[in-house]
Amino acid sequence: MSYLCIVKQKIIITGGMGYIGSHTAVELIESGFAVVIIDNLSNAREEVLDGIHSITGVRPVFEKLDLVEHEKTLAVFEKHKDAIGVIHFAALKAVGESVAKPGLYFKNNILSLVHVLECMERFQIPNLIFSSSCTVYGEPDKLPVTEETPTKKANSPYGATKQIGEEVIQAELHANSQLKAISLRYFNPVGAHNSAKIGELPLGVPNNLMPYITQTALGIREELSVFGADYNTKDGTAIRDYIHVVDLAKAHVSALDRLAHDTQEKNYEIYNIGTGKGYTVLEVIHAFERATGQSIQYKMVTRRAGDVEAVYANANLANEKLAWSAQESLETMCSSAYTWEKMYRGTEKSAT
Ligand code: UD1
Repeated sequence: MSYLCIVKQKIIITGGMGYIGSHTAVELIESGFAVVIIDNLSNAREEVLDGIHSITGVRPVFEKLDLVEHEKTLAVFEKHKDAIGVIHFAALKAVGESVAKPGLYFKNNILSLVHVLECMERFQIPNLIFSSSCTVYGEPDKLPVTEETPTKKANSPYGATKQIGEEVIQAELHANSQLKAISLRYFNPVGAHNSAKIGELPLGVPNNLMPYITQTALGIREELSVFGADYNTKDGTAIRDYIHVVDLAKAHVSALDRLAHDTQEKNYEIYNIGTGKGYTVLEVIHAFERATGQSIQYKMVTRRAGDVEAVYANANLANEKLAWSAQESLETMCSSAYTWEKMYRGTEKSAT
């Protein structure tokens, strides 16, 4: 009797317990990959593994590790040196906090990337996907932004770590000839998996718009503050390109496919991952109200420091080269975010 043994390709996901990382873990497992999650749990909870297990039937291998710790990082990567690629999400991401604690952001976000790159070279892991951000464009002169749009001086240390991260990878590509990398510049991820078993879990008062809206709808927050009503937009509020987190997660599978099959045109490629549509803050609030039947209490306040007026993507390059495009509507983003918040609060009543 002969046995056919199909060995799944192993992917390391740093920051895989977080919001985008956990959704990407699900999509990769469902696409047939074996997933190893590395996370220090600084902004995530271990129960996320239960959610991933419950959706996919697979519990990913989990390594609790802070990538800033050099020796421990080498040891964990050595254990998983049969991986074919790394998706590097692990990073601090609160814009306001980064202004207050720039050293923490540079140390954490840059040093962890440097350690990941060192491990990839040492253990000959060839494929890297890096979580970048539309924040690298700053306040763009022309909309929508393409990958050729010049980057601007970063508005925050967080934004600077994304710009520097892209540069560190580019420099490393000269030194490590077997490395191939793709940076994905995310626009504004919102929403949750349609099972409502994983979603966004901000600790404390949310900084971002969608979790603030869902918590206001549930009465956890009294009122949403709309930051700025005097922008030069159709209703005076700022414009962003909101993308469903599952669409965003799928972009990683497409990017990995491109790297793993060696179909990329350059050893380093950059893609905008957005829907190509910009919505104002008020349009998001009204879409949420339509999608959920819940009205949102809000007031207009002054602009938030560091916010740009408008940014949305031209995602044609990703559509063409990654054979990927965003599918979900703003209404679905809103309803899935709300369903997740309700499910989560069903077991956890108090907000911190
Ligand atoms: C920013 C970064 C993004 C980063 C994210 C991480 C830019 C262009 N984007 O997203 O790269 O990944 O932070 O946290 O720098 N708003 C309100 N009331 C609220 C919260 C937000 O009106 O209570 C408004 C904001 O002013 C903004 C929009 O909603 O106009 C979206 O804000 P948010 O969800 O915080 O995302 P960004 O700041 O766009």
